[in-house]
Amino acid sequence: MTLLDGKKLSEELKLEIAEEVKQLTATGRKQPHLAAILVGNDGGSLTYVGHKVKSCEQVGFKSTLLHFDDSITEEFLLDEVKKLNENSDVDGFIVQLPLPKHINPDKVIMSIDPKKDVDGFHPVNVGKVTLGLPAYVSATPLGITKILERYNIETAGKHCVVIGRSNIVGRPMSILMSGQAKTGNATVTICHSKTKNLKEITLQADIIIAALGKPEFLTGEMVKEGAVVIDVGTTRVVDTTTKSGWRLKGDVKFDEVSVKSSAITPVPGGVGPMTVVSLLLNTLKAAKNEVN
Ligand code: GUN
Repeated sequence: MTLLDGKKLSEELKLEIAEEVKQLTATGRKQPHLAAILVGNDGGSLTYVGHKVKSCEQVGFKSTLLHFDDSITEEFLLDEVKKLNENSDVDGFIVQLPLPKHINPDKVIMSIDPKKDVDGFHPVNVGKVTLGLPAYVSATPLGITKILERYNIETAGKHCVVIGRSNIVGRPMSILMSGQAKTGNATVTICHSKTKNLKEITLQADIIIAALGKPEFLTGEMVKEGAVVIDVGTTRVVDTTTKSGWRLKGDVKFDEVSVKSSAITPVPGGVGPMTVVSLLLNTLKAAKNEVN
């Protein structure tokens, strides 16, 4: 069994990005600049945005964090997005989700200039990715394709079962895996909460991508011998033995599934770190004007 070490791979990719930043700035170009808008104090969001800012520093990017109280109005937020759209020093930016209930996330995402939408959430980017055109692929799906690519996992002709149909992971992942790219050309089945006989389907999978957000949902008896398993779950569960009082749990019952799989991502240290580095890759693309 190969442990797909996203932590190690993300460190390698960060070194490669840092090298490219050095080369860019040596030719007189400005540092790539990523901005993030965070509204409120959701624990998970604070942690994720913190990782994003720290990673920017590690690779030599400039970063700006705009942190607002959760009492701000939608109109205020839309105005902040407009300012970032118009700020020529900012190459790309993200609005961390979830947003407070009184703010419509779709409206906010649609107000982002697609050229600066390094999260790849804007319908223009989603549409372009669907058509196989150059665009920003959203960070988690991009990170997963990088893991498969760097570990030389063949995807062509394989049966890939994606569990979960979220706009951020499941749906774009199903599109990438079925697309005509190096990491693609798979036969894809997308499963969700209304799927019948899920176990029958997962047992046929050569590659399983679990992205439904239910801790330890995928058990050993649902997995074929030799399958490749990607665990996207990051649920915080109470753990009184840790300093924080919680720990991350994936969607895969690791002990049972790892003994059957040929390769598997751990949680933590699998997909999570690759998501952050993928955002950096998209920001580098933005700084180089590679997506228009
Ligand atoms: N919330 C959970 N994942 C993400 C992400 O990749 N980007 C943003 N902006 N918000 C998130």
